[in-house]
Amino acid sequence: MAGGAMVSTDGGGKEYPARMTLYVFLTCVVASSGGLIFGYDVGISGGVTSMDSFLLTFFPSVYRKEKQDRSTSIYCKFDSQLLTSFTSSLYVAALLTSFIASLVTDFFGRKWSMFRGGIAFILGAGINATADNLFMLILGRFLLGVGVGYAIQSVPIYLSEIAPPRLRGMLNIMFQLMVTIGILIANIINYFTNKIEGAWGWRVSLAFACVPAAIIAVGSLVLPETPNSLIERGHTEEAEATLRLIRGVDDISLEFRDLVAANKRCKEIRDPWSLILERKYRPQLAMAILIPFFQQLTGINIIMFYAPLIYKAVGFSGQASLVSTVIIGTVNVVATLISIITVDRVGRRGLLLHGGVQMLISQLIVGTLIALKFGATGEATDISKAYASCVLFFIGVYIAAFAWSWGPLGWLIPSEILSLEIRSVGQCIAVSVNMFFTFVIAQIFLTALCHMKHGLFFFFAGWVVVMTVFVALFLPETKNIPIEEMGLLWKEHWFWSRFIKDEENTEMGNLGRPWNHSRVQVAAKEVLSRNRV
Ligand code: BGC
Repeated sequence: MAGGAMVSTDGGGKEYPARMTLYVFLTCVVASSGGLIFGYDVGISGGVTSMDSFLLTFFPSVYRKEKQDRSTSIYCKFDSQLLTSFTSSLYVAALLTSFIASLVTDFFGRKWSMFRGGIAFILGAGINATADNLFMLILGRFLLGVGVGYAIQSVPIYLSEIAPPRLRGMLNIMFQLMVTIGILIANIINYFTNKIEGAWGWRVSLAFACVPAAIIAVGSLVLPETPNSLIERGHTEEAEATLRLIRGVDDISLEFRDLVAANKRCKEIRDPWSLILERKYRPQLAMAILIPFFQQLTGINIIMFYAPLIYKAVGFSGQASLVSTVIIGTVNVVATLISIITVDRVGRRGLLLHGGVQMLISQLIVGTLIALKFGATGEATDISKAYASCVLFFIGVYIAAFAWSWGPLGWLIPSEILSLEIRSVGQCIAVSVNMFFTFVIAQIFLTALCHMKHGLFFFFAGWVVVMTVFVALFLPETKNIPIEEMGLLWKEHWFWSRFIKDEENTEMGNLGRPWNHSRVQVAAKEVLSRNRV
C-alpha cells in the first residue's frame, strides 16, 4: 500500500500475510515488461523521427524542409501533421482500447487482457519493423497502442491485486520506474541504431519492442489469475487456493474473507459508471480526471517525444542530440528512484509542490533562453555549444522535477484514492484522460510550436502554476493512509466535505466495516490528523 506502514487487520490485531513470494516476484517481472513496453514506445518515436533515413523513407517533405530550406524558422522545421500522427496514433489506439480492455479485464480476467496486449505488441512491432509505406507504419503504431491500452489497464490492477497490501504502493511506483527505464533503453538503442550504415537502423529500433512484448505475452500465460478476478467470476475455491499459493502461507482466512466481502459489496452495486457520477464521489471523480490531465499539461511529453528534434533545432548534431536524449533519460530514471525513496516520508503533496515550483522555474528559463537566441523569427545567428548545453541543463532540471513528482504520482494518486466500488471505472477514466491528452499534445505540439514559438514553454509554465495551486488547495495528503480507509479524507477536507453527507464514508471504511472498530481505522484517523495542513 502507498503508506507502507500498515496492513488491514480484523480489528483484533490479526494481519494479512505480507511476504514477498516467488509468485509476487514473477508478477513484478511481468508487470515490469508492461511498463517497459509503454516507456519504450514513448522513447522510441522521438529518436526515430529525427533519423534522416526514416524521414527520407516516410516523410520526404519534412526531410527536405529540414535539410534544404535554410530560411525556415526552427520553430516550424518539423511542423507536419503526418509526422505527428506517427507518434500520436499510438495514444488514440490506447485510449479506445482502454474501454474494451476494462471489459475484458472484468469478464475474462486480468491475465487475458495482458495476453492480448502482448500479442498486439508483437504484431505492431513486427509490422513497424518491416514497414515500407506510411500505412504499415501507422498500422503498426496503432497495434502498439492497442497493446499499451491493454497493458496499462490490466497490469496495474493485476499488480495491486496480487501484491501483499504492504507492497502495493511500492509496486505501483515500480511500474512508473519501468516506464522510465523503457524510455532510457529506447534512447540508447536509438543512439546505436542511428549509426548503422545502410539506412535501416530505425527498423532495429522499432523491432526491439518485441522483447518485452514476448515476456508479457508468455508471462501472462504462466502466471496465476488474481484471487479477486476469480471470485468475481464465481471460481471461489480456485481463488482461495491461488491466494494461498501467492501468499505462501496456509492461513489466508482474513484476507480471503475481506476479498469475498468486498466482492459481494461490488456485486450489489448497480452500475459503477452511474455510481461514480453520484455527488458523494465527486472528489474522487474530480481527481481521476484532473490528476492525469494536469500530468500531461506539465508538457512532459514534448520533451519525451520530440527532444531529439528540439536539440537538433537548437544546434546539436544528429548524434549529439541523441546523446542529449540519453542524458535526459538517465536523469528521468534516477529522479524516479528518488521519488520511490521519498514518497512515503515527504508525502505526495510535498513532492508535488516542490516539483511544481522547480518545473516552473526551469520552464521559464528554457523559454527565455530560446527566446533570447531565436526571437520570434526562429532564426538563430550563431549558437555556441555552451549555450546549447545550458538549454540542455535546464531541461534536465525540469525532467528531474517531473520525475519525482507528477510522473509517478500522476498514476499513484488516482489508483489509491478510489474506493473499491468505483476503482475499476475510476482507473479507466484516469487512463483514458491520460491517453487522450497524451494524444492531443503529441498531435498538436509541432504545429503549436510553429505558431506559439518560445511562448509554448510559457504556456506550459502557466499550467504548472494552476496545478501547483490546485495541489496546495484541493489535494489531501494520502501518505500512510491504508487504501481501504481513504473514505475519511474527503469528509475531513475543507472543500470536499461539502459533497459528503454526515452519514457517508465517515461511518464506513471502504470495506464496509464501521469506523473506529479496527486498529487500522483508528491509526488511519491519526495519520489523517497528522497529515492535515
Ligand atoms: C507519463 C508519460 C510520460 C512518462 C515520462 C509517465 O508518467 O504518463 O506520459 O511520457 O511519465 O517518464
